[in-house]
Amino acid sequence: MTLAQTTRLNWFDSTRAGLEHALAAKLSEFEGPSPVLNEAMAYALLEGGKRLRAMLVFSAGHAVGTPASELTDAACAIEAMHAYSLVHDDLPSMDNDVLRRGKPTCHVKFGEAFALLAGDALQTLSFQWLAQSTQGSVQVRMQQIAALAGAAGAQGMAAGQSIDLAHVGKGMGLEALENMHARKTGDLIKASVRMGYVSNPDLSPVQKDGLEAYAHCLGLAYQVIDDILDVESTSDVLGKTSGKDALNNKPTMVSLMGLGQAKQLLARLREEAMAACAVIDPQRRSPLETLVELITNRKS
Ligand code: IPE
Ligand code: IPE
Ligand code: MG
Ligand code: MG
Ligand code: MG
Repeated sequence: MTLAQTTRLNWFDSTRAGLEHALAAKLSEFEGPSPVLNEAMAYALLEGGKRLRAMLVFSAGHAVGTPASELTDAACAIEAMHAYSLVHDDLPSMDNDVLRRGKPTCHVKFGEAFALLAGDALQTLSFQWLAQSTQGSVQVRMQQIAALAGAAGAQGMAAGQSIDLAHVGKGMGLEALENMHARKTGDLIKASVRMGYVSNPDLSPVQKDGLEAYAHCLGLAYQVIDDILDVESTSDVLGKTSGKDALNNKPTMVSLMGLGQAKQLLARLREEAMAACAVIDPQRRSPLETLVELITNRKS
């Protein structure tokens, strides 16, 4: 391993450890009066997540010259939003999954009603953390809140999830499937990158466009690899039930185009993401490149 690679990994490891610490501290600081709700929220948010969305916030910040210490609240916020999306995604009325992050899903452990409420509370907490943050200017945080809300709601993740559920057992064309994936998974990935780069209001339009293109490709790639792993991996490695998409009759990239073509698409998206972030100078884009590698090579 070269010195540059070692330095990169050290930055990753220490930044991720800092995030983990901040998530636990912030969650206990914002505890409410219901012990079971607090416990269900902690169960869903802490331990086991890869934290790739948080790392995208930090890496996009690094790309535009903002230190991780200025983006911790934004990174915690996106992870809380993502954790909520997973709790609801696993519910019996949605994907009906029993395993998540190597543990029983939130509703299996706490019951459906508390899982619903834990998801609700994690979602609002993500906005509260941003609104009450002292990191960055008010203008920056308004943009981060807008990015997060837009990505999670009726134009973003919730729309993608609705389209997913409405197409169970039905065919779907490539364009429609790409649109669904871009919303249900891609939009939170895009929001992660945006929440990082808006911290620098002086970013040039070329750099902004490059980072947007990077986020779009990576967001789509994220769900393409997820669809591939669902077929190729095991529940033990994934920490969630493998083979679930076929069992639930879900429209996925693999069901539409087969494994071989899905892998080709992934390779293309990987190259496009790498090319898009080349608008940032090499030192500053290095964490973004590491994330392309981590995401497109992920095994879980
Ligand atoms: C899983 O996301 C759900 C998708 C959007 C594909 P991750 O694979 O990032 O899940 P965690 O946070 O690491 O558990
Ligand atoms: C869900 O996609 C993405 C979310 C919005 C949570 P999947 O349903 O494929 O995610 P997994 O495979 O359960 O993690
Ligand atoms: Mg789903
Ligand atoms: Mg699912
Ligand atoms: Mg999946």
